[in-house]
Amino acid sequence: MTGSLSSVDKAKLTAAMRSVEYIEDGMCVGLGTGSTSSWMIRCLGLKARRENLNLTCVPTSNSTEKLARQVGLKTIDADKVKEMDVTIDGADQVDGEFTLVKGGGGALLREKIIASSSSLMIVIADSGKRVETLGAYPLPVEVAPFGLPITKSQIDDVLGSLNYISRSIGLRMNGSKPFATDGGNHILDLNLARIGNAGVLSSHLNMVPGVVENGLFVNMCDIGIFADDKGTVETRNVKEGDTRTDDADMHAFDALVAELGI
Ligand code: A5P
Repeated sequence: MTGSLSSVDKAKLTAAMRSVEYIEDGMCVGLGTGSTSSWMIRCLGLKARRENLNLTCVPTSNSTEKLARQVGLKTIDADKVKEMDVTIDGADQVDGEFTLVKGGGGALLREKIIASSSSLMIVIADSGKRVETLGAYPLPVEVAPFGLPITKSQIDDVLGSLNYISRSIGLRMNGSKPFATDGGNHILDLNLARIGNAGVLSSHLNMVPGVVENGLFVNMCDIGIFADDKGTVETRNVKEGDTRTDDADMHAFDALVAELGI
């Protein structure tokens, strides 16, 4: 039944399936961006239809908005709402403190705005995203196109002052052009090997005038849901400090796969 799903997609879909259990009728839901979030949006569309839920969803990117509408979710613009009940989003890396690196899909600014205004922020990922120390995944930083070389040089100075000896900064490209975010900004990917104090790095980066936002999400994750391709799910309630490990209901998983037409 799940033959066409890769191992990593099985894991992502398992985490996504579990995450939508937190959604209840009448909620305002922030929708993340990326492949794991896409699975979650498809699960949520099904759940909303099956249970006749009245949800209002706030997408964090144009691609998420398009998918949400395709699966029948009602979306509104972020300028129509001040607070979300819950946001569900993926991550590129998650460390032991539940600090996240995000922005691999280029949506980090909108993702951070929405996550910061959510009563509950749920992070979903395949268990391969868990790391002891952040840094192996390049840190995305969204920057204004104006004065890009100045911003890049000032970021390099910041990194030097914080003793990031081994470092390089790359401009993310989309073919022959710089990648443009939904907001028309660019992304600098910071190769740092190892991120020490994420809170300090985040605040120093955001002091550079051309920096719009960085992809470190510090103290923002309330619940982390990590799954592997065998159906084992680890749920960490960060605020309460407890972790539950159990197995996903594989009959429900197979039924979901069939309903999604995979
Ligand atoms: C989008 O900008 C990102 O923050 C994504 O949430 C993150 O890159 C995870 O993406 P995947 O779910 O595709 O791995």
